[in-house]
Amino acid sequence: MVFTDRAKTVLEIRYLLKNEKGEVIETPEQMFHRVANYVAQAEELYKENSSEWAEKFYEVISSSRFLPNSPALMNAGKPKAQLAACFVLPVEDSIEAIFKTLKDAALILQSGGGTGFNFSRLRPKGDVVRSTGGIASGPVSFMKIFDKASDIIKQGGARRGANMGILRVDHPDILEFVRVKRFESLSNFNISVAVTDAFMEALFKDDYYPLINPRSGEVVKKVKAKEIFNEIVESAWETGDPGIIFIDTINKYNPTPHIGQIESTNPCGEQPLLPYEACILGSINLSKYVKDGSIDFQMLEHDVKVATRFLDDAIDVTHYPVPEVERMHKGNRKIGLGVMGWADCLVELGIPYNHKKAFALAETLMKFISEKSHEASQELAQKRGVFPNFKGSLWDKRGIMIRNATTTTIAPTGTISIIADCSSGIEPYFLLAYKQRILDTEFEIINKYLIDFAQKQGFYSEEFIDELRKKGTLRGIKAVPLKIKRLFKTALEITPQEHIEMQAVFQKYTDNAVSKTINLPQRTKKEEIGKIFILAYKKGLKGITIFRYGSKTGTLLRVSDAH
Ligand code: CDP
Repeated sequence: MVFTDRAKTVLEIRYLLKNEKGEVIETPEQMFHRVANYVAQAEELYKENSSEWAEKFYEVISSSRFLPNSPALMNAGKPKAQLAACFVLPVEDSIEAIFKTLKDAALILQSGGGTGFNFSRLRPKGDVVRSTGGIASGPVSFMKIFDKASDIIKQGGARRGANMGILRVDHPDILEFVRVKRFESLSNFNISVAVTDAFMEALFKDDYYPLINPRSGEVVKKVKAKEIFNEIVESAWETGDPGIIFIDTINKYNPTPHIGQIESTNPCGEQPLLPYEACILGSINLSKYVKDGSIDFQMLEHDVKVATRFLDDAIDVTHYPVPEVERMHKGNRKIGLGVMGWADCLVELGIPYNHKKAFALAETLMKFISEKSHEASQELAQKRGVFPNFKGSLWDKRGIMIRNATTTTIAPTGTISIIADCSSGIEPYFLLAYKQRILDTEFEIINKYLIDFAQKQGFYSEEFIDELRKKGTLRGIKAVPLKIKRLFKTALEITPQEHIEMQAVFQKYTDNAVSKTINLPQRTKKEEIGKIFILAYKKGLKGITIFRYGSKTGTLLRVSDAH
């Protein structure tokens, strides 16, 4: 097992067990054994051999072909082993309920999870408060309290907290919400507007739509959809926030509508969840499956099945910080298996990220992963039973007896991709040479595949590396053959439409959603961002996040800062 210096540092700071003096007391190998052994204990519940499964789990994890989300690596085997990365909590319209949720959120944060909230049930600013005869402060003020609390608590005492704050586009305070990141940092929050189909129709017809007081159900006023849309665009252009979630599209694919409507996602947007629901994620490292110029589907099938079982087991051995979440997660048993190392995989195959072969392969691969994980979940259902809320679910209607209400999600893999030394999620490379600071140490990262190509194809030299360091991309570097330049295109050299297309092909075969940032050059015009949002809607995406290079980096949680 070989780790980069950067991976070793990340592991030492945040993952490996420490004693009371703060000294690291395990090796990465021991950590992987700890995780595999702990999760495999669940097998005993089903009268299976846990040590046999612990070995299988260890094999896929220690070879960096599969890694579960960070909380599973950090917490497995500890007294309060909380293994899930994603949570959503309800926010009801009373002081008591708001502060109950804040308490639950604090406990989740402390356990290493991230939480999403939809603040739309809160009465708008200036509305009446009957009990005190006062006036309401509105959703945005409460968000600020949640943000402050996250500042102080920090995740598992180690990394900064990640939250998602959502407001429906028809809430009377929508403008204040959309603009908030222009004026306040709210650094522990990503924010997204929950946009409805009705809003999009009004936008296309250049029509008005109603803002509704959630307390009384009254229409407060009617506004031009375009006016709000332009404000969303303006703020996204300036700060990257808000993103958009297409809430009706999300609910169209809600596998358990009889249990509730989905109103929010987790912090990075890839996991829509019901109030009080959680999800455990894990990712397959696609860079490990290229053998002799093609994909080793046999090994991929094996690993997808082992990973799906690992994630289902993980639910049974998780210690939930909030009882309502335990009930809901064990009712639906959502898991989210996804991929990372996609850009690496393409380079190994010699396919540029924005080539039509790349989109076709994305579809083939994700379809395969989705089918195999559904198969694995069905096999588990035969022995362990379907998920308890199965009756009345979309799976029930389709006659598919499955163990998990969802099995696939594409996560950002911000930290686990560093551990596995692969490109993150389904993103293209952002830069081919860059520096990253982790605590006191600065790391220089130069794309390992590029170095390899440079050496093999004879364009490696000191001057080449110097130029690469300065530019970060291959653009304008004369020594590099055109073919290599195409193969190593970075995020800003790929068009927004191509970014969206990649998100869309992966989404097509993903039960939950896909984490993707549409990275845009600094010169991008506002109109273009509007067009990107509309394209995302028309392509059937569940959500969209853009980031314009050089814009105000209030949070950047979505990009790298969270890790
Ligand atoms: O790579 P890692 O497993 O650490 O996480 P990720 O794939 O980048 O993010 C997956 C999810 O973990 C996010 O959407 C959040 O729900 C959660 N997360 C968090 O709570 N806090 C962070 N600092 C980073 C991620």
